[in-house]
Amino acid sequence: MEGLTKYYGDFPALVNVNLRVDRGIIFGLLGPNGSGKTTLIKAMVGALKPTSGWVRVMGMDPLLHRRDLSRYIGYMPQSYALYEDLTVEDNIRFFAQILEVDNLEKRILKTLQFVELTDRVKMPVYALSGGLKRRVSFAIAVVHDPDILFLDEPTAAVDPYLREKFWRGLKSLKESGKTIFVSTHLMEEAVKCDIIGILFRGRLLMISTPQELFRVGRLKVELHIHGDVVRVDLPNDPQTIAGFLKQYGLKDEIKEISFRFPDLDEIIISIFRRMGYERSEN
Ligand SMILES: Nc1ncnc2c1ncn2[C@@H]1O[C@H](COP(=O)(O)OP(=O)(O)OP(=O)(O)O)[C@@H](O)[C@H]1O
Ligand SMILES: [Mg+2]
Repeated sequence: MEGLTKYYGDFPALVNVNLRVDRGIIFGLLGPNGSGKTTLIKAMVGALKPTSGWVRVMGMDPLLHRRDLSRYIGYMPQSYALYEDLTVEDNIRFFAQILEVDNLEKRILKTLQFVELTDRVKMPVYALSGGLKRRVSFAIAVVHDPDILFLDEPTAAVDPYLREKFWRGLKSLKESGKTIFVSTHLMEEAVKCDIIGILFRGRLLMISTPQELFRVGRLKVELHIHGDVVRVDLPNDPQTIAGFLKQYGLKDEIKEISFRFPDLDEIIISIFRRMGYERSEN
């Protein structure tokens, strides 16, 4: 995408976003509430018309070639669109039929196994828990075996155990050659991506690896020694940390060392400071 800009009325939800995502990676889109993640994903799946700028997905304009593209992309919206009165199986079948999936029944079964819903096939969606509904929505995104997945906060309100499992699923899809574009506001998910982009107030502030991102934030270190507590903020690089610890040696008096990595908000604030902004300003 280049120069991608979206105004809702006179509100700028995306401002001049330039981004290129290579095939076969997991790209994580990070940003706080209202930063424009959903708007950006909608522009990529052809669900929204940009005010200016352009988007191409596999070389196609998602607005002009929505139908052709739908065979190659899977989309899991943030607010899932399921038929509450239909069963799990019929929801998946309905979307698979629209996309004219080959070997329909075999593919549905395989998808149900992949998302681990085989024991719920006959249940109406209204009777499922929130986490299970998300799984149905994920099943719909992958049933036609797409090359690219757009997942908008797929693990919101999913417990840590299932979240971990879900990410293992994403890793296996990546290993089979898929490209995954996923939005989140969780740091623990960001570290699982190959490349991440940080969106803030509609602007893409930074594109980097998660490792680079961690170096932006300062590490909070606490050292308990001689009954005292030493607290410092250090740049998050191994040399500095080793240098700091060295002055204390390996003494028995050290009772506890703790490190705390900055959370996403702290990192966004440091990036903003580095760029000469404050969060409260526009
Ligand atoms: N249809 C709309 N009309 C007017 N404003 C909108 C519309 N959709 C989104 N916005 C505004 O655009 C901004 C970006 O919204 P968007 O949903 O893209 O953010 P997000 O990063 O996905 O947030 P969240 O983490 O809460 O899902 C927000 O300020 C939102 O209120
Ligand atoms: Mg959103």
